[in-house]
Amino acid sequence: MKTIRVNTSKPYDVLIERGSIKSCGKYIADIAKSRRAAIITDDVVEKLYGDTVKKSLTENGFGCTMFSFPNGEASKSLAVLSDIYDFLCESSITRNDIIIALGGGVVGDITGFAAATFLRGVEFVQIPTTLLAQIDSSVGGKTAIDLKCGKNLAGAFKQPALVICDSDTLKTLSPDILADGMAEAIKYGMIRDEKLFRLIAEHDLGNVHEVMDEIVYTCIDIKRAVVENDEFDRGERMILNFGHTIGHAIEGYHNYVNYTHGKGVAAGMCIITRRFAENLSERLEKCVRAYGLPIDSEASMAELLPFCSKDKKRESNNINFIVCEKIGEAEIRKASVAEFNKMMEES
Ligand code: GLY
Repeated sequence: MKTIRVNTSKPYDVLIERGSIKSCGKYIADIAKSRRAAIITDDVVEKLYGDTVKKSLTENGFGCTMFSFPNGEASKSLAVLSDIYDFLCESSITRNDIIIALGGGVVGDITGFAAATFLRGVEFVQIPTTLLAQIDSSVGGKTAIDLKCGKNLAGAFKQPALVICDSDTLKTLSPDILADGMAEAIKYGMIRDEKLFRLIAEHDLGNVHEVMDEIVYTCIDIKRAVVENDEFDRGERMILNFGHTIGHAIEGYHNYVNYTHGKGVAAGMCIITRRFAENLSERLEKCVRAYGLPIDSEASMAELLPFCSKDKKRESNNINFIVCEKIGEAEIRKASVAEFNKMMEES
């Protein structure tokens, strides 16, 4: 097993081991104050891993209940959050007990937000089962739900007590969901690690499983370093948003349906790189294409720009956006909304 210690205001471990989902109860018992747990998952993941997680918890002395909601971004809502609160009340969860997020990014984000707010805070464990959740959303403590006016707009920072990553769970992912996570892996290579970028670029969607353990470990370790330096997203952490300003705009343009986050990020990285570091475009686009991801958006820049100005990285009238002029190095740039729009319209 590999362990990455994340030294945030509340330190915690990320355990990375094939098959670890089967022994999750043992690891959770090591950090839990009580032997009562509430599992929150979605209907797809429940069928795949619900019984495995329950069995392991029971074998380790836990009494547990489970709640599942429909798979997909539409569930990251106030309505589902309210159902989760009701379930936690019905399960008599107290501040000593533990909440477990079992699933992808949607499950992790909404469960983390419930854990941050229910009884003003209950400890929670992330068991991420998608690549995107393992290398990005389960680590770093960002939790949120979507509002009518945008994605992730109500949230809290709440670091998990433990993250358990089982890369065997990635084998059951559809190519689309795997590609979704690979966009974030390419992003880590672009912002921090040329060697990682090369490893990813030497593979494709068909054979990347051969090097998945190395990719997962390296990406989580990059995220650890960034989050340790800037837990509350005031500076350096913004580099994790490379490709996201345009990417979120593309997702927003498609109403967040039929367009995955990874596709948005992939196209967003390529569009911003064509505009600010054209010499890298060929390498980046070749890599992005190898994972079946888009290098451009069907929407015009004029259609996307109104969505960019809603970006969370906006500060008053300024937009922060990320540029990589060299693979492995990222820079935060600031422009007024008007300047940003002008630069992008010219591209
Ligand atoms: N997913 C970006 C961050 O955690 O800051």
